[in-house]
Amino acid sequence: MEVVILETAEIGARFVADAVVRVLRRDPRAVLGLATGSSPLLVYAELVSRCKQGEVSFAGATVFLLDEYVGLPVGHPQAYATVIDTVLTGQVDLPAGAVHGLDPTATDVPAECSHYEESIRSAGGIELQLLGIGRDGHLGFNEPGSSLGSRTRLKTLTHRTREDNARFFDAGGEVPRHVLTQGLATISEARHLVLLASGGSKADAVAAAVEGPVAAICPASVLQLHPHVTVVLDAPAASKLRLHDYFRETYAAKPAWQDI
Ligand code: F6R
Repeated sequence: MEVVILETAEIGARFVADAVVRVLRRDPRAVLGLATGSSPLLVYAELVSRCKQGEVSFAGATVFLLDEYVGLPVGHPQAYATVIDTVLTGQVDLPAGAVHGLDPTATDVPAECSHYEESIRSAGGIELQLLGIGRDGHLGFNEPGSSLGSRTRLKTLTHRTREDNARFFDAGGEVPRHVLTQGLATISEARHLVLLASGGSKADAVAAAVEGPVAAICPASVLQLHPHVTVVLDAPAASKLRLHDYFRETYAAKPAWQDI
């Protein structure tokens, strides 16, 4: 696992956008896994701007979303399918049909979840998966207690997550109780996981995920089992890491030829 501590969330966003651009230049048909929530918003704004300037194209890419609320009307502004369209995919040159999300209206939920996993597999698997982290250590919507071997399925949000996400719903009603989410084992099949966190409110969760025991109580600790993970933090989010100084030194001394 590589932990990159950059001074601000803006610098971190440019750093992650650079990585996405490199993936798309290397393979214009790359499959990207995208998170929603506030953490990746600056990355998406940066990618939109670079696409508009002709620096990168998404024309051959495919996107899979990480998770989705259950119970919101189709097209609800906080449904993750709507959110990603607003902040990224609807603003770049991705063709219609290239963005895949879990269908929260499916009547047969297990079948929808299996079908989603099959779609990811038949697209060739996810090359780069962007991730945020919840204050309770959730990854995707795998809340504490989620099996580290979990697959895509229905989950119930904790009170804490529903409270945290209420900020998005001020005018639009209550945060749903249920979600569909890629499982921790599903997420772990992506070839490169890039977790982005900023702000002191994430510092405990980041420390538990990066340096704590690998345990279902902190679902993001599953990252420790993956061979290719990059954790991009601003200074406050990194503030509780015991290896903080070592991570900074390591990144500062990184050979120029080495990609993340
Ligand atoms: C969203 C997702 C969640 C968020 C997490 C952090 O697709 O999977 O795990 O990444 O809740 O949310 P923010 O970024 O809003 O702090």
